[in-house]
Amino acid sequence: MKRADHHPSRRRFLDVSGAMVAAGLTAGCTSDSAQPGRHAPSAAATPKPVAATGRHQAGITLPQQAQANLLAVVADLGADVAPGPLLAELGQAIRTLVAGTDPRLMGLPPGDLTVTVGVGPRLVRAAGASLPGTADLPRFSRERIAPRARGGDLLIQICAGDALLLPVVAAALLDQAGDRVRERWRQSGRRGTNVSVGKGLTAPRNPLGFIDGIVGPHTTAEQQRDLWLAGPPAVAGGTLAVLRRMELDLPRFAALSVAEQEAVFGRRRASGVPLSGGTADSGPMLGAKTPDGRYLVPADAHVRRAHATVVGVGLMLRRSYSTDDPAPGLLFISFQNDLRTFTATLTHMDTSDALLPFTTTTASATFLILPGFDRQRPLGSQLFG
Ligand code: HEM
Repeated sequence: MKRADHHPSRRRFLDVSGAMVAAGLTAGCTSDSAQPGRHAPSAAATPKPVAATGRHQAGITLPQQAQANLLAVVADLGADVAPGPLLAELGQAIRTLVAGTDPRLMGLPPGDLTVTVGVGPRLVRAAGASLPGTADLPRFSRERIAPRARGGDLLIQICAGDALLLPVVAAALLDQAGDRVRERWRQSGRRGTNVSVGKGLTAPRNPLGFIDGIVGPHTTAEQQRDLWLAGPPAVAGGTLAVLRRMELDLPRFAALSVAEQEAVFGRRRASGVPLSGGTADSGPMLGAKTPDGRYLVPADAHVRRAHATVVGVGLMLRRSYSTDDPAPGLLFISFQNDLRTFTATLTHMDTSDALLPFTTTTASATFLILPGFDRQRPLGSQLFG
């Protein structure tokens, strides 16, 4: 279970890193004031920092426009590891990493870095059998998932505008955890250029060329209703995440005409406008028909099969990233306060969704995203304190 290589004790590591912070700050002051010609080069456009602390963790609704790069690391905890102290330490490390004061960043500017932490069903069950987040995802069709790419105890979702930060931040957090965790699977992804879809919202295109992430709980009221967990107190302010790595059959999709591709989704490829008309953000009119009685949004179109009202569930916040390794596809990520929002939607898609035959799912997991944290209320303290 445990890694064989030697790790310095955490106490010693913290002492050393504290000393390095102090040394780094002093050195920075000296060079800034005494050697004006040696200033660090200024970044072209420094992205706005995103606070790590607050009622909710960052990396879900903030930043409003998701960063271009993601690395998701999924790990297991050793059988005798207490989650409380580990999560509190990770939260503390996240605060220093995001603040840019952690020596393990090696001076890299954190920019809009966010780190979002979730715990898997096994850990949630240990904390309370009736809590949200205790259920594993069921099996669905079109899965080819290796045992190690299914489930996991700990999710560390790292997002940043600067792709260089991702492995550095992952290494820092895994080193902090030391031999208490063992990595299970990881996936990196990126988002394409953002396209404006109205109401001040933007969404990127996915590898099939379609704008992805239009419909979701975007208003505060929708987020209170469908995204954030209202209770019990141990999970209030958290949410439930689903991660599904889906390979896409790009050559077969590319062989379709544009009209056929649009029929698969039920939206225009160029603009994201539903095939029933209107604007990208107006939502598909599912009852609208052609003069000869055919649905404008076909019966098996993805936006019909996945439509919240048709399925009878709340809205999910989709925040997916495109992947190219191990294969071209999508790391589908959704956040919702009821796992049924995801499971009922995919079950409804499984019966007949024109998109599914182009997909093969190769990794799958769900996590309870812990409530937000700060200095007084360490990460994970409500659940494992
Ligand atoms: C590789 C797989 C997938 C791709 C490429 C994909 C892509 C898209 C696109 C382009 C849209 C239309 C624009 C938008 O509202 O964002 C959409 C809508 C949607 N997708 Fe997916 N999707 C995939 C898988 C899934 C899965 C697995 C689920 C959940 C089980 C899902 C749930 C939804 C929902 C709820 C909508 C909004 C439907 C509406 O109300 O109009 N998608 N998806």
